[in-house]
Amino acid sequence: MPITTCVFDAYGTLFDVAAAARQAAGEPGFEKLQQKWPELANHWRLKQLQYTWLRAITDAHADFWDVTQDGLDWALEATGLEGDPVLRQRLLDLYWELQAYLEVPKMLADLKAGGLNTAILSNGSLPMLDGAVQSAEIGDVLDDVLSVESVGVFKPHSSVYDLVQQRFGGDRDEVLFVSSNGWDAAGASGYGFVTAWVNRAKEPMDRLPWTPAHVLSDLTTIPQLAGL
Ligand code: LAC
Repeated sequence: MPITTCVFDAYGTLFDVAAAARQAAGEPGFEKLQQKWPELANHWRLKQLQYTWLRAITDAHADFWDVTQDGLDWALEATGLEGDPVLRQRLLDLYWELQAYLEVPKMLADLKAGGLNTAILSNGSLPMLDGAVQSAEIGDVLDDVLSVESVGVFKPHSSVYDLVQQRFGGDRDEVLFVSSNGWDAAGASGYGFVTAWVNRAKEPMDRLPWTPAHVLSDLTTIPQLAGL
């Protein structure tokens, strides 16, 4: 089936999740972050994701903003940066205005010009996602922002992927689902979407029962994959 709808994971895919720690490290007063920001960003992201999976399988859902703060607190302690409320708050504030990757605005504009539906499908809550979308100025090239909050469980639960057809209709194989998270691309492949894993960091393929249809180094070729 031709692709009619392109759906994007948000954090790490459209928005650079390392940007918060990287940017704070360059600001006055946070010099102690200069050496440690990559380690902090990595711990923060991994703990945040682990907590989503654990909360999903134990039926203990919490808002992604709470999970994001829990992940940060673990990461700050692991890197010896705990106990600085100004730094903590600055990192959290920056998470609401993460930079989009450079190719994102044009790629989305090309998809819209080509008549495709475009949306975000994310673990993020709508207020968080709205903040990032506004900050990146990509609201006019997205048809919708879909949040797991409407089903109360995190990805890769199938009820999250169901949100796409509930919004846009069509068959699963008309959807191109794009994620930088190997596990998310794998889960969406198992669900039946056509998938693209954006592997910017050149990580090994996840050992899961499903594999992405496409592996990309960035988002520039998404319009071609969508048939434009
Ligand atoms: C999201 C996370 C998983 O945006 O990156 O859903």
